[in-house]
Parts: sequence; structure tokens; C-alpha cells
Amino acid sequence: MPERPASAPQPLTWDLPSAALPRHIAMIMDGNGRWAQRQGRPRIEGHRHGVRTVRMVSETCTQLGIDAVTLYCLSSENWKRPPEELDFLMHLLEQYMIEERRLIMEQGIRLKVIGRRDRLPASVLAEMNKTLAMSRENPGTQLVLAIDYGGRDEIVRAVRELGGEIARGQLAPEDIDEARFAEALDTRGLPEPDLLIRTGGDMRISNYLLWQISYAELWVTEACWPEFTQEGFLQALRDFATRDRRFGGLN
Ligand code: IPE
Ligand code: IPE
Ligand code: MG
Repeated sequence: MPERPASAPQPLTWDLPSAALPRHIAMIMDGNGRWAQRQGRPRIEGHRHGVRTVRMVSETCTQLGIDAVTLYCLSSENWKRPPEELDFLMHLLEQYMIEERRLIMEQGIRLKVIGRRDRLPASVLAEMNKTLAMSRENPGTQLVLAIDYGGRDEIVRAVRELGGEIARGQLAPEDIDEARFAEALDTRGLPEPDLLIRTGGDMRISNYLLWQISYAELWVTEACWPEFTQEGFLQALRDFATRDRRFGGLN
């Protein structure tokens, strides 16, 4: 038998029907710094190791046929962090865009980026745009990276866009409904997240996808992002399958 290439995903045993799977999973990848510090290492080592978990998640989603997974990479509030940590995060993003290109193409992943673009270094943007263009027609899972993203910032940008259309006479205020508003958000075209996973144990949203998670099921693990395993991820999916989603109605 020919040897399996190192990058090929291992076969996955999944015990639930695909109808029980979420279409869109949102993740707050938290706890990198704490994971590193627990081992007496600098915080940035946690970010570096976190890339492995990103790879595991995108491979698993591909294997399960999940439509979209959105990962919180950098929030609009994370700019408050020390410049050395931010420099490292920018370096890591640039490296990710270069080094993961081959896997993204092999697995047919379509990359999408949400958040502001005007505060990112030109070198990160250049590599990001290459990977976005290269993967644009891929048929598989959409891997959405939230970079310099904040839910409030996104909503304000959407309001500005719609306000501009109204000022130019292209839109009437009464034509704005929930669907039209969602079209003005960065996530336009994506299904709403069914499941929100947060690692690192904190029970909060941290300005993530505020509009989109209205009816997402929440799932929090104490495991920090660099130690979050495929088994942990599958457990989240099994738990999701048992949730009774009522959307305000009665079942
Ligand atoms: C999440 O891990 C990654 C980013 C916010 C960029 P943290 O860096 O927040 O790690 P903790 O939560 O401080 O442990
Ligand atoms: C949320 O984590 C942002 C990302 C994972 C990128 P934070 O570490 O920034 O969240 P808080 O500050 O604990 O709420
Ligand atoms: Mg954190």
C-alpha cells in the first residue's frame, strides 16, 4: 500500500449521523498564555503551539463535512497587549498564511477573513490575500479567521455602510430588516453559528460574533487551546447533538 502523505488527515470514527452536526462552529481559542505560563514558558509559546490545534480543528471539520468554522484569532481589544506579544502574533499569522497553504489546498478548504484590515501590517495582508485568492474556489469547509475582529466594531461598520446607502438615496430605512442587516456584516453569506466553543474555561463572549450567536449553543471547556484535543472537540459535537434547540418556540 502506498504510504499516506504526512499531511493527509487520519480516518475519523464518528458515531453520530451527519444531520446531528452543526453547520457552522464558532470557536474562541483562549488560554494560550496560561497554558505556556503553567509550564514556566513565555506566553508566546502558547500561541505557537496553538497553531497545531487550529490544524486539528480544520482537518476534523473537513473530515466531518462541516460547512464553516470561525476561529477568533485576534480581537479588536487585543491591541491592548504588549507590543512584543502583538509582533509575535503578527509574525505567526504571516507564517500561518504561508505554511498552511499546502494543507488548505490539499483539503479543499476555502479561507475567509473577517474583521478590520486597516490595522494589520502590509506583510500579513499580502500573504493573507494570496491564500484567500488561491483557495477562493475550493469546495470544502470554509475556514473563517476573525482577525482584528470585534462584534461591536463589525456592527458599527455595518451601520455606517447602510447609513451611507441611505444618504445616497440607494436604500430606504424601512427596507432594513434582519436579513438586510446581516448582509452588511462581515459574515454575509455564512450560516449562523450553531455551536460556540470556548477553551480556557471563561464563561464569556469577549465581543465575538454578537449578532450571529443569538441562538448558538454554548460549550466551554477548561482545557486551554494548545491542549484541546480532537477527542475534546468530538465530545463538544456529541454534547451539541443532545441539546434541545427551541429558538423561542416549543418542541
Ligand atoms: C488566546 O489566548 C489568544 C489570543 C487572544 C490572541 P490568550 O493569549 O488570551 O491566553 P490567556 O487567556 O491569557 O491564557
Ligand atoms: C478572546 O480572548 C479573543 C481571542 C481568543 C482572540 P481574550 O483573552 O482576549 O478574552 P478576555 O480578555 O479574557 O475576555
Ligand atoms: Mg485570553
